[in-house]
Amino acid sequence: MCQGNGFRVVITGKGGVGKTTLTSCLATQLARNGVMVLAVDEDPQMNLPHALGLGIEAAGKIVPLNLNHGYIEEKTGIRPGASGWGAMFKLNPDVNDVVKRFGVNVSNNLNLLVMGTVKQAGGGCLCAENVLLDSTIRHLALRDNEAILLDTQAGVEHFGRALAKGFNHCLVVSDDTFNALTVAEHSAKLARESGIAHVSLVINRGNQGTAEKMARFDDYIGTGLAQNFNSVFLLPFEPRLETLEPAVTRIMDMKDSDYGAAVAALASRLGSHTCECAENHSH
Ligand SMILES: Nc1ncnc2c1ncn2[C@@H]1O[C@H](COP(=O)(O)OP(=O)(O)O)[C@@H](O)[C@H]1O
Ligand SMILES: [Mg+2]
Repeated sequence: MCQGNGFRVVITGKGGVGKTTLTSCLATQLARNGVMVLAVDEDPQMNLPHALGLGIEAAGKIVPLNLNHGYIEEKTGIRPGASGWGAMFKLNPDVNDVVKRFGVNVSNNLNLLVMGTVKQAGGGCLCAENVLLDSTIRHLALRDNEAILLDTQAGVEHFGRALAKGFNHCLVVSDDTFNALTVAEHSAKLARESGIAHVSLVINRGNQGTAEKMARFDDYIGTGLAQNFNSVFLLPFEPRLETLEPAVTRIMDMKDSDYGAAVAALASRLGSHTCECAENHSH
């Protein structure tokens, strides 16, 4: 799905590896670079508004999209909670008004959409909320110089839904522990199966021992971990993040932060290979 030169990035990985911190800092940097950014929070814990620096009061006023029942009914034709089996869904609702109606402006060029997440009642439940959430992400038209960054909850459930489809870049965040890297490797495979062309590994809190640890991990599982990824980025440990919480994007104002510099470098790389199919299509 090629939509102009905008780019869509899904950020995934094990719990606590630094997904929300990275998403918020990347969003901040891209917006400063002049990209129109929509940051989307898919995690029911809803940390992203706080990470982006919205105060407690502003963040508390946000009603996640999945709780806007009137909107869901308007767009899907189904009242949330109604028995959906056999019901007619509008599978591709026109959702281009969603940012205008429910997006929160964070700063210049940066808007936030909080999805809320619906628990699957069983395998393959096609409930109205999920149809809307997935369609919202998939069908939001992107123009040149626009980006969607999707911060996900821990785990790989989102790859089983339509949610991750239509993304052109996946950032798999990991630390250098065996458990996180195992999740990362699995996530890379699922991302590819979802049709995501660029899958990058981001080793967060990387340090001197990281390359060595990765080599040890490669030996352990007998395959090259890095070969599952198009690129590998290292983000250094940044002790000041803890003191800035929850508004961690303030690290991007600290010129001496190696973490901030690494995020800025990653933002430039993302901006440089935007729509993957640009060369293959005539538009
Ligand atoms: N590079 C880093 N250096 C130090 N602390 C970090 C770094 N990245 C994230 N953290 C901290 O790790 C914790 C988890 O980060 P978070 O982004 O919430 O993870 P996730 O969204 O993956 O669950 C937070 O306390 C955050 O401040
Ligand atoms: Mg998070």
